[in-house]
Amino acid sequence: MLFFIDTANLDEIKQAQELGVLAGVTTNPSLVAKEKNVHFHDRLREITSIVEGSVSAEVISLEAEEMIQEGKELAEIASNITVKVPMTPDGLKAVKAFSDLGIKTNVTLIFNANQALLAARAGATYVSPFIGRLDDIGQDGLELVSTIAEIFSVHGIDTEIIAASIRHPQHVTEAAIRGAHIATVPYSVILQLFKHPLTDQGIEKFLADWEKRKA
Ligand code: E4P
Repeated sequence: MLFFIDTANLDEIKQAQELGVLAGVTTNPSLVAKEKNVHFHDRLREITSIVEGSVSAEVISLEAEEMIQEGKELAEIASNITVKVPMTPDGLKAVKAFSDLGIKTNVTLIFNANQALLAARAGATYVSPFIGRLDDIGQDGLELVSTIAEIFSVHGIDTEIIAASIRHPQHVTEAAIRGAHIATVPYSVILQLFKHPLTDQGIEKFLADWEKRKA
């Protein structure tokens, strides 16, 4: 499973990139809106100049023709832009058009397996099941990842699963076990992944022992 970062914040992207584990970026309108005084296309230019892997940029339009126009403009920004499209009938019409044009797509706001299967059959490059938001309403987000992975495996579908709406490290581990190809993770959770108290204690003890040896 690869790591994407789920943010439009440049500092977070740079810091994650420096860690050497970053394979891509996902943004959404809410994440972009959190960035003050930022022009969307300019921010995408900045992000794609830092990260070589897929950078998801979401369309705002809800009607297929407008989505296609918007997505084409996004795709022109850089060769590693993936056009993010919401899971609607119009969204999937646009995904089919993008697929025919060779433009990569990430179908977002996936909350059940049939949505994922439809998106895959429309030609989606990625589908993004939202784990945390399902957990928030008392459903099992991780179980959805397992179900989608099973269906894609049974039917030889090569659309990749991005585990999205990740809230904590256990989501990441479980997404990997259950067959997500990618987890898109907020920066705060990426940092949590590194941590274990025994690692910190171990470093402290090694250094203390090393100091004693020199004395
Ligand atoms: C995925 O691409 C979305 O940007 C994201 O994971 C949504 O997560 P949230 O539920 O924390 O907003």
